[in-house]
Amino acid sequence: MRYLLAALMLGLPAAAVAADTILIHRDPGCGCCGEWAKIVKAQFGRTVRIIDDANRPALMKARGVPADLASCHTAIIDGMSFEGHVPIADMKRALAQRPKGVSGLAVAGMPIGSPGMEVPGRPAQSYAVVAFGPSGRRVFARH
Ligand code: CU
Ligand code: CU
Repeated sequence: MRYLLAALMLGLPAAAVAADTILIHRDPGCGCCGEWAKIVKAQFGRTVRIIDDANRPALMKARGVPADLASCHTAIIDGMSFEGHVPIADMKRALAQRPKGVSGLAVAGMPIGSPGMEVPGRPAQSYAVVAFGPSGRRVFARH
């Protein structure tokens, strides 16, 4: 339903937003979101729609994404929320396991070396993938 509402609000034809479409709300004009989106599209093999969203904090609040874990995009996949440059394998694991009390995963900021944030000649930073939701937060993975 949320997908449909988003589609209607954006004036998109409803048929273009199938239930399995992956929505990625990004800060308008941000480039690294597109790099991450390409990886998501390739690895999930699903339609990806990028939405320039000037009011992403409101979306994050509505979906329970902690503000201090903010990055540059929020993806909605099968009802779960994914904030930032989350590795695909972690998303697939969360979607398969659906851990109780977890509504999504976040990689805060934009760590160098995370998917879509690779910078040639610069070493990868270490970062945590944090699970959040009604049960609170915990580290889901470290990279
Ligand atoms: Cu980014
Ligand atoms: Cu970005």
